[in-house]
Amino acid sequence: MSAATLEVRNLCTHFFTRAGVVKAVDDVSFTVRRGQVLGLVGESGSGKTVTGFSIMGLVDAPGRIVSGSILFQGKDLATVSEEEMRHLRGNRIAMIFQDPMMTLNPVLRIDTQMIETVLAHEKVPEEEARRRARDALGMVGIPSPEERLKSYPHQFSGGMRQRVAIAIALLHRPDLIVADEPTTALDVTIQGQILAEVQKLCATTGTAMIWITHDLSVVAGLADDIAVMYAGKVVEYGDVGEVLDKPLHPYTHGLIGSVPSRNKRGEPLRQIPGMTPSLLNLPEGCAFRARCPRAQADCAQRPELTEWLPARFARCHHPHREEAAAA
Ligand SMILES: Nc1ncnc2c1ncn2[C@@H]1O[C@H](COP(=O)(O)OP(=O)(O)OP(=O)(O)O)[C@@H](O)[C@H]1O
Ligand code: SF4
Ligand SMILES: [Mg+2]
Repeated sequence: MSAATLEVRNLCTHFFTRAGVVKAVDDVSFTVRRGQVLGLVGESGSGKTVTGFSIMGLVDAPGRIVSGSILFQGKDLATVSEEEMRHLRGNRIAMIFQDPMMTLNPVLRIDTQMIETVLAHEKVPEEEARRRARDALGMVGIPSPEERLKSYPHQFSGGMRQRVAIAIALLHRPDLIVADEPTTALDVTIQGQILAEVQKLCATTGTAMIWITHDLSVVAGLADDIAVMYAGKVVEYGDVGEVLDKPLHPYTHGLIGSVPSRNKRGEPLRQIPGMTPSLLNLPEGCAFRARCPRAQADCAQRPELTEWLPARFARCHHPHREEAAAA
């Protein structure tokens, strides 16, 4: 098993609002190893983006990391200085945002931005940097990359802009990429092409990746491990094939339904009856209780993330253990 690039341990990121404390991320733990992809899934508002922002050091007031650690190659990102974090963001860690304009500079031509990115990391001749920029655009499916290099961001469509932002993240060859639903708006063919490039990058350069998405088919095809979030917590975590085939947690069970994982391509996450609880006043005990078909009296006690089977974790008092254990 390869070395851990990132180890998130008991991370809590809360927002101190006038209405109260929003526990957006509350006791989140997972590991991403070199060259591996972790799929981070969950309903809207479950804390995926705040988890990504916490790792990147991008949580702003009224939010802050209140406890836990984010060990990146052994260094705790939760405690490094803002200056050091900025340096890491430019060099070793990259984020692909939902909005590509978080990455792109509107007043600079794409070639300027991309060539600078290469030169910031490596001492290569400018011609070589330009060639790499052009190849990166080609890799994400941008036609006539040589010509498009001369364009400004506003001259691209939204989908093309997102591809440029992805190309820039790949150019960095960082040790860790956090990608926040970057391909959701793209058409299926392009999405497939980009995912294949991303997978290749991870395998060849050892980049570790967190891929945030709503789309189980993306996770099934791309990720090695999966972490399922619900109301700010990881409720299930493990090998992607095992979790999708034999989920332990009733929430994961509901999301996936009874469709075997090999048939999951193109399947969106299922809707589960009931409302996501407000993070402002979460119920005591298990946050999924009001929607859970397996709930019992003891679910009023808070469940901890527990290793029910080897390397298979669930935060639940009554997981689907027998089904999951059966081969
Ligand atoms: N600046 C803020 N102030 C208060 N609450 C916030 C702030 N930013 C995020 N939150 C809350 O944190 C929770 C988690 O939000 P987050 O954006 O991480 O969800 P998500 O899982 O990424 O959802 P989506 O799938 O819609 O992108 C939400 O309830 C949100 O309202
Ligand atoms: S702890 Fe209880 S309520 Fe929560 S998911 Fe498990 S069975 Fe359902
Ligand atoms: Mg989000």
